[in-house]
Amino acid sequence: MKSIHRKIWNLALPYQDKRDDKGHAKTVVSFAIKLLKTEKADPDVVIPAAILHDIGWSRLSKKERFSIFKPEPAETGKTFSGDIEIRKKHQDEGVKIARRILSKTKYNKTLVSEILEIISEHDTRIGFISKNEGVMRDADKLWRFSRTGFLADSRRRNMPHLENLRRLKQKTRMHGFFYSKTAKKIAAEELKKRKKEFKL
Ligand SMILES: [Fe+2]
Ligand SMILES: [Fe+2]
Repeated sequence: MKSIHRKIWNLALPYQDKRDDKGHAKTVVSFAIKLLKTEKADPDVVIPAAILHDIGWSRLSKKERFSIFKPEPAETGKTFSGDIEIRKKHQDEGVKIARRILSKTKYNKTLVSEILEIISEHDTRIGFISKNEGVMRDADKLWRFSRTGFLADSRRRNMPHLENLRRLKQKTRMHGFFYSKTAKKIAAEELKKRKKEFKL
């Protein structure tokens, strides 16, 4: 990692992983690095966005942070208006803290605007606005396919591993879930590993 990215990482550390998702930021950043090996996106946008995307959770109450672990609307046919408000709040708060951190490092202003734009709707935007945005959001989604993300999801949803595996497999086939084919490929590889680990 470049030294300026390392600096951003260190400044963001006190705000990271504020739900029961220890390792989320680190895992998302490693998937971003992996995706960037194939996808020609700009690391100077993707890496800071990946580091900073969820720091806004640190500004929400514990009740708010944990209230969104319910079945997803797609699985129940219902929408949760409270859920969307909380998601928007973590994005808005994230933008505020990210702006402060990036200005401390004197980051390039044009890049800062793009990074903040990505963070501002990383969980709620429908469709992708750029390659940089698509790659960063792919890295975030890939978390669920990693060992720690998979275990966190099964636990939060009170879901047997096999059901979680099937749910994730279905997601990879959903149009518009992943931005890149590379992410789809990595997700399939990760699922193979989970299948083996948990003997599913
Ligand atoms: Fe998020
Ligand atoms: Fe995230």
